[in-house]
Amino acid sequence: MSDKKATTKAPVKKAPTKKAAPKTVAKKAPVGEKKTAKVDGGKIIKVSGPLIVAENMGDVNMYDVVNVSKMRLVGEIIELREDRASIQVYEETSGLTIGEEVISTGMPLSVELAPGIMGGIYDGIARPLDKILEQSGDRIARGIQVSPIDRKKKWDFVPKKKVGDKVVTGDIIGTVQENEVVEHRIMVPHGVSGKIKKITSGKFTITETIAEITNDKGKTVEVQMLQKWPVRKGRPYKSKLSPSQPLITGQRVMDTLFPIAKGGVAAIPGPFGSGKTVVQHQIAKWSDAEIVVYIGCGERGNEMTDVLNEFPHLMDMRNGQPIMKRTILIANTSDMPVAAREASMYTGITIAEYFRDQGYNVAIMADSTSRWAEALREMSGRLEELPGEEGYPAYLSSRLAEFYERAGMVKILGTEDRLGSITAIGAVSPPGGDLSEPVSQGTLRIVKVFWGLSSALAYKRHFPAIDWLISYSLYSNKLEKWYDEEISPAFHANRIIAMKLLQEDSSLEEIVRLVGVDSLSDRDKLIMDTSKSIKEDFLHQNAFNDQDAYSTLKKQFKILNAILEYHRLANIALESGVEYGCLVKPELRSKISRFRYLPEDEIGKIDEFTSTLKSELSPEKSMDEDMDDVQLNLTDMSNLKADHWDKK
Ligand SMILES: Nc1ncnc2c1ncn2[C@@H]1O[C@H](COP(=O)(O)OP(=O)(O)OP(=O)(O)O)[C@@H](O)[C@H]1O
Ligand SMILES: [Mg+2]
Repeated sequence: MSDKKATTKAPVKKAPTKKAAPKTVAKKAPVGEKKTAKVDGGKIIKVSGPLIVAENMGDVNMYDVVNVSKMRLVGEIIELREDRASIQVYEETSGLTIGEEVISTGMPLSVELAPGIMGGIYDGIARPLDKILEQSGDRIARGIQVSPIDRKKKWDFVPKKKVGDKVVTGDIIGTVQENEVVEHRIMVPHGVSGKIKKITSGKFTITETIAEITNDKGKTVEVQMLQKWPVRKGRPYKSKLSPSQPLITGQRVMDTLFPIAKGGVAAIPGPFGSGKTVVQHQIAKWSDAEIVVYIGCGERGNEMTDVLNEFPHLMDMRNGQPIMKRTILIANTSDMPVAAREASMYTGITIAEYFRDQGYNVAIMADSTSRWAEALREMSGRLEELPGEEGYPAYLSSRLAEFYERAGMVKILGTEDRLGSITAIGAVSPPGGDLSEPVSQGTLRIVKVFWGLSSALAYKRHFPAIDWLISYSLYSNKLEKWYDEEISPAFHANRIIAMKLLQEDSSLEEIVRLVGVDSLSDRDKLIMDTSKSIKEDFLHQNAFNDQDAYSTLKKQFKILNAILEYHRLANIALESGVEYGCLVKPELRSKISRFRYLPEDEIGKIDEFTSTLKSELSPEKSMDEDMDDVQLNLTDMSNLKADHWDKK
């Protein structure tokens, strides 16, 4: 560490004259990437935690990647003033001294994309953790250089185009079956279009040429499977569409009450321990996204350990394959350098875009965006920028928006019209659960689904602790048609009835708290009963129970429908004069409570149950029972009287 004074005293070499430096080396950037200058001759003049300042950086560009010191620590230029560059370093900076070298690579922070990426576990700057473990053991050695994707492995490339075919950026020229689940589609790189001059099937490494494309000017470009893409820049697409299909998560409270669309954006804010991580894990495990990118951003290491231990053993119910085969994990735990949190978010979303461009529905989860915001705050403080609210930089909201904006259902580049989507789900950890803090507010302005977790529910062990009174989904009306056509014409109507009952229940609870349950009318008592059943038998879902962890939409509909049908029939009975007490049938309620544990092939039993409700709750039957009760009471009375006279 050193301050500005130290800087002036330090034996900094005089900046070389314009002629001598900076040394510029032309380096052929991969196709589709901006070419910038490679500069060396930079010298550290200040080290402040993850931020270093280097001078003599003449020709560099903002966001170029640099190698710092002989250790070649990876950093990124985040501020430029004349020839001084402020650099955020993605690795531990302790021990760096004034005067050490800084070399710009002339390239922006990029991620390598090619077959072999699937199922990988990467750190914030996309280095594979298993390879790092092999090379440097449990602790990540500083400056370690590992190539993210295996360059020696040969993949079976199957061409989808032939010589003479016209292709444009984004067209799929061939495929590689990366594993049993994912077909990796090889696309024409950005900036390339023309006629295919040569294309070969067979086994290739990711850096070998698989095709040659000649453009209009007669220039031939060699195409490899490996692509590089700068992470801070969204990959282009033709147009964004309005989402129209739900991302099915198997979580009843989400799918039924607050659905998210494929291509939608959602936030899960919640105080400490309210279940943000478990909800994110549930979506990663069970959602019907074809590709999942999970970013552990600044969270505890043991949460990532849970993922690593659990995910490889979990099978995808759609294809019976381990879910890791469709998952990419980016692990940037809280003990890793803070600057890399930002890189992890961008790396994750770039990988998601790459698969979206292949035509997949991708889901990306970030746990938690608050830790990224904290990293931004730390860097901004060290850059001595004017702080915004609560010390966060003034550009916090725009950074959050930039990230979530990269989600969406899009028409992807290419000759044919194809669709792909990214659904982004970010956890937010507001200190003390106070949603008025800047990260929550910034996020709420952008996202369309808000799954607000409540500490009161978590305390009662009602999980997922998604509070139905504060949560919302702006997609539910758009998805109404899909649900009604695919599941049942009553789906949307049931959702509205359930929400209304839950809202009425919350005001009734207030009354009960003040004046007691006896003050309620029979109708109100029934509302409270039904709401209790909705909460306990439907919304509550145990992530750790094999049958309960995932509910198909059909099962979700049937359970809720049974509960609401009970309510409807009981209401009719009440109106015909049946006493409330006769409509409280614990044996029926307990049957409803067991529905969520029914295996999928037995959910027909729920329909059978619902159809019996009509007779069970019919006014006649209830009246009969009413009469039986009266009879019973009369007999009791006469017995009592007899007793009384006997004693006399
Ligand atoms: N759906 C669920 N089913 C059963 N238990 C759950 C569920 N969700 C959360 N829990 C319980 O709550 C605990 C805390 O959840 P989790 O770790 O997800 O909270 P968090 O909000 O991520 O906390 P932090 O703010 O510390 O990151 C879990 O260990 C688990 O015991
Ligand atoms: Mg957590």
